[in-house]
Amino acid sequence: MNSPSNSLTDILTRWSPVGRSGLLPALIEAHESRGWLSEETLVDIARGLNVPLAEGYGVADFYAHLYTHPVGKTIIRVCDDVPCYLAGSEKICATIENHLGIRAGETTSDGKFTYEKVPCLGHCDHAPVVMINHQVHENLSETELENLILQSPTSNL
Ligand code: FES
Repeated sequence: MNSPSNSLTDILTRWSPVGRSGLLPALIEAHESRGWLSEETLVDIARGLNVPLAEGYGVADFYAHLYTHPVGKTIIRVCDDVPCYLAGSEKICATIENHLGIRAGETTSDGKFTYEKVPCLGHCDHAPVVMINHQVHENLSETELENLILQSPTSNL
């Protein structure tokens, strides 16, 4: 079975018949195909679904995994809530910063990695927890993290 096309035209063809109800799925599909949502994309989606542009921005801003600025192909999210902090998330953060040469909230200059500190990822009993793109990694050691970064499809470290 073929997966649906993610050209903006195809996305709007799929979701414009349902108008406002299609806003979130259209944003998600556009985000998945482009890696982030540019102003131009948001304008096109808002027009295509006949919703105010501010609503498109509102939805995009509400969901932490929808970016309205360019981000790396690999996004590393480190939980820095208390249980993960107590389990060593600061060492995890230091490992990332040393390997990639960026601080939380930054993207590597080659556009391969974005690194963020985030609130609880819902796996507190397996702290420290890191999410790399859509994959959650529990009880992560610094060595395991280094290996994950090195094995990342976008890595050439
Ligand atoms: S506190 Fe880190 S996953 Fe909940």
